[in-house]
Amino acid sequence: SQRTLVLLKPDAVRRGLVGEILGRIETKANWQIVALELRTLEREVLEQHYGEHMGKPFYEPLMEFMASGPVVALVVKGERVIEGVRALAGPTDPIAAAPGSIRGDFGTIVRENLIHASDSEESAEREMKIFFPGLA
Ligand code: GTP
Ligand code: MG
Repeated sequence: SQRTLVLLKPDAVRRGLVGEILGRIETKANWQIVALELRTLEREVLEQHYGEHMGKPFYEPLMEFMASGPVVALVVKGERVIEGVRALAGPTDPIAAAPGSIRGDFGTIVRENLIHASDSEESAEREMKIFFPGLA
């Protein structure tokens, strides 16, 4: 099976959507949460995590938003979980996301789109090391 790194972004925590979003993940068959932490992210951690976007016009506002309050970081393990959590999340732009998806049900703003999920096995390995260096 696979593992993926998920962040419930500061907007999700501020709006009281942690239980709702975790519930959607936790109730999928054959998936389990194997690490979980509430944490306010330091600039250095965010630069590692979103380094691929450095220099893009949305980078600085994204950094500021992601540091604006605590996030919930977690690792989910299970069958096709990388593709699966991205499918639950919906596309980056919440207005383009279908109802039934997390972004489609709760979002309107591209930056404040509630959830991050690793986009490949390589990203998942890299991102899990950033947030949970002790995880085997
Ligand atoms: P993540 O799971 O957070 O990485 O989202 P993603 O993979 O769906 O999108 P991507 O990696 O391309 O962008 C990272 C984050 O930057 C997005 O989730 C948004 O919060 C933000 N972002 C991406 N593109 C834009 C954009 O065009 N405008 C703005 N304002 N924010 C953007
Ligand atoms: Mg991404």
